Amino acid sequence: MGASIKTVNTTPYTDQKPGTSGLRKRVKVFKQPHYTENFVQAIFDVTAPANISAAPGSTSLVVGGDGRYYMKDAIQIIIRIGVANGITRFIIGKDGILSTPAGSNLIRRFNISRGGILLTASHNPGGPDKDFGIKYNAGNGGPAPESVTDKIYARSKELTEYKYADIPEVDLSKVGTHKVTEDAVVEIVDSVETYVELLKSIFDFDLIRNFLKTNSVDTGKFKVLFDGLNGVTGPYGKRLFVDEFGLDSNSVDQAVPLPDFGGGHPDPNLTYADKLVARVNKEDIDFGAASDGDGDRNMVLSKDWFVTPSDSVAVIADYADYIPYFKTGGGLKGLARSMPTSTAIDRVANAKGLECFEVPTGWKFFGNLMDAGRLSICGEESFGTGSDHIREKDGLWAVVAWLNVIAAANDEKVKKELNLKSSNASGIVSVKDIMARHFSLYGRNYFTRYDYEEVESEPANAMVKLLRDSIGPNSPLVGKSFNGFTIKSVDDFEYTDPIDGSVTKNQGIRIIFADSSRIIFRLSGTGSQGATIRIYIEKYEPDAEKSQLETQDALKDLVNAALTISKITEFTGRSEPTVIT
Ligand code: G6P
Ligand code: ZN
Repeated sequence: MGASIKTVNTTPYTDQKPGTSGLRKRVKVFKQPHYTENFVQAIFDVTAPANISAAPGSTSLVVGGDGRYYMKDAIQIIIRIGVANGITRFIIGKDGILSTPAGSNLIRRFNISRGGILLTASHNPGGPDKDFGIKYNAGNGGPAPESVTDKIYARSKELTEYKYADIPEVDLSKVGTHKVTEDAVVEIVDSVETYVELLKSIFDFDLIRNFLKTNSVDTGKFKVLFDGLNGVTGPYGKRLFVDEFGLDSNSVDQAVPLPDFGGGHPDPNLTYADKLVARVNKEDIDFGAASDGDGDRNMVLSKDWFVTPSDSVAVIADYADYIPYFKTGGGLKGLARSMPTSTAIDRVANAKGLECFEVPTGWKFFGNLMDAGRLSICGEESFGTGSDHIREKDGLWAVVAWLNVIAAANDEKVKKELNLKSSNASGIVSVKDIMARHFSLYGRNYFTRYDYEEVESEPANAMVKLLRDSIGPNSPLVGKSFNGFTIKSVDDFEYTDPIDGSVTKNQGIRIIFADSSRIIFRLSGTGSQGATIRIYIEKYEPDAEKSQLETQDALKDLVNAALTISKITEFTGRSEPTVIT
């Protein structure tokens, strides 16, 4: 074998249970003696070819991450332990950088049946006192299912030793193939290149390029700004916006991945992407966008409109005919959303005669539907949008999808076809105009989310119990009216996967009104302190004349109903939510 393989005795840790998106802990926790090594060994044990399959690619592994503090150390550990566990080929992003979608793409593109290890804690802050994460993705490119992560957890609790190869540190900065032992190579790849190639095969780059050349580069009428939030997408954004679309380099902000994301919270929403929001308003930006630390979330806005994630996915689905990828292979398959996401996309599915799935919160629930060829485009209210091109949500995919939509909407032929009108002196059909047409066609699903963070667990659970006690056909709430809204049904969302029949219960209390408005209560599955209560409020407004109200005004009565029904202030002592999105 060449390198000497050492066996190290270790004591298991009992807290290595992966959450929704891998094992996420403070950096300090990962730096405890053998902590990272143990978890990595557990992954290799559970996914060893003998335990899953010896398919081609079972001794290869994709590795990379969002550039956060401790990532490079973790990569060296993975190489050493991987070599000792029979991995012969590592595909690693240059400097370790690999956005989550790019990682999913590499696994699929190179047929790596063993999958990959992604080093990220997504949108959580990074740095020596902040978070790190290790996530295992399976051979389909998607996050490992619970059946696998449960096994990794079980294995981590019984480990008594791990193996590592005594090899020198690998230089991650040099693209190319590096031999690390007689039998093992490390391939450092420019993941930006492969990812951009992927997007090129999906979207109409010529259409986008021409639109931006005329309206942004030559005349400055359409201003574009992408904010990488100092996360992983900066280099990808630069390659796309500057090299491919020909925009000025200052159209990409905070584009250098930093180990601590510049001290910020790399989450694209109106609260944390405050620099982008301020610049969009101040500089009259026509198209502003951001992605999170590891590149799977996205936000889209303009100087006069904020596109909610629920509306965003509905619009992209509505314009699928103008996106080349969805024209191939028999056209659009089904659409889908997570349960709390507004039902705007359902209306598009209905109009197009497509299946529309409602799954529990969490991207992993879309994977089976995609693998079975029943799902093309899907999204979540939590700023996740994507399609079956990979098995993760994809921030830049959504951003480029919007550019494709805007470019198409400004094509003279399409403009006529869709009866699109510009409300701007420049004559350009703007984000706001696209939304206005959407609402006039489908009605508007006003949507807001109230988050009550770090509530004590006991009162939060008591509140959920109160709500749960009133579910079912005999619910005392059914038939009651609140400010003119009459309750039609109350249930606790349960999902039966149509592909494998697996059942997921207790996914959130749904109060559905006669006019199809909804109030949903759910406890977050990603909070790290106490409990986070989320209330999702949605009202359907069919009248186009009433589609331009302020969201909070439009939803006031339903918000009050939600507060009354849940007695949230009584239970938690909170009179205001921590965050409203
Ligand atoms: C992660 C997952 C998403 C999910 C979100 C929900 O970001 O990748 O798919 O929507 O968590 O978080 P919550 O805190 O509402 O459980
Ligand atoms: Zn993320």
